[in-house]
Amino acid sequence: MSGLLAGKRLLVTGVITDASIAFSVAKLAQENGAQVVLTGYGRLSLVERIAKRLPEPAPVIEVDVTNTEHLAGLADRVREHVDGLDGVVHSIGFAPQSCLGGGFLDAPWEDVATALHVSTFSYKSLAMAALPLMSPGGAVVGLTFDATKAWPVYDWMGVAKAGLESASRYLALHLGKQGIRSNLVAAGPLRTIAAKSIPGFDQFEEAWTERAPLGWSLTDQEPAARACLALLSDWFPATTGEIVHVDGGYHAIGA
Ligand SMILES: NC(=O)c1ccc[n+]([C@@H]2O[C@H](COP(=O)([O-])OP(=O)(O)OC[C@H]3O[C@@H](n4cnc5c(N)ncnc54)[C@H](O)[C@@H]3O)[C@@H](O)[C@H]2O)c1
Repeated sequence: MSGLLAGKRLLVTGVITDASIAFSVAKLAQENGAQVVLTGYGRLSLVERIAKRLPEPAPVIEVDVTNTEHLAGLADRVREHVDGLDGVVHSIGFAPQSCLGGGFLDAPWEDVATALHVSTFSYKSLAMAALPLMSPGGAVVGLTFDATKAWPVYDWMGVAKAGLESASRYLALHLGKQGIRSNLVAAGPLRTIAAKSIPGFDQFEEAWTERAPLGWSLTDQEPAARACLALLSDWFPATTGEIVHVDGGYHAIGA
């Protein structure tokens, strides 16, 4: 098999529809020579149906990233399909409604804790669950939404993403000795289920459509997926703790 990821074995989390960023990553990865195992959360039969739309139907393992038993059993479940992992994609985010849409000052800790558990801490937990299968040259890649700024309506999810960005740097620090890299892709707004759950998300859509220097498609997940593939590949061998913006250049302008 030829391609950017020829011979690589990947674990891809976060597919729930074919609009999921993870679906584009899995599809492009297969098209570029990778073998893909998916994880699904919640509506597993739906994820299995979506998995059949990939160029190669991919096996699906149930993983709730807040479930310690799921995480403890992950490596064995993955081993049923592949004998090791070269890459892990974390494409997971969730915050209760109280944490979004302007609720920053009122969201209760229990809800904030859920957002941080699913969206931030899970980056480390997933990487550690997969670590027994990984070897030097391996890569962990996650998805963020530029957390250097306080955005309207993003609220505690923005804090969770700031934590994720820091967690990725710490993972880079702690896994570097084992030759494993950790990097994030900071994507612009894309119309997925997670995005639609954010009240006022249309403000991002308008801002990007009007101002991104390169222009921006709200329905094209491929640019973000391509960056994930590049970071999983052997073409960033000395890059870790990095955040690559795939946002049409929006982060670079002052508007
Ligand atoms: N859509 C955007 O505009 C955008 C922009 C930048 C970054 N991101 C990030 O991209 C990632 C993927 O989101 P998406 O936009 O493709 O949306 P999506 O709704 O397609 O994917 C989110 C995934 O998170 C999974 N998930 C939620 N709780 C989970 C849990 N407890 N255990 C395991 N999985 C769980 C869901 O099942 C779903 O598959 C997220 O981290 C999101 O924050 C999205």
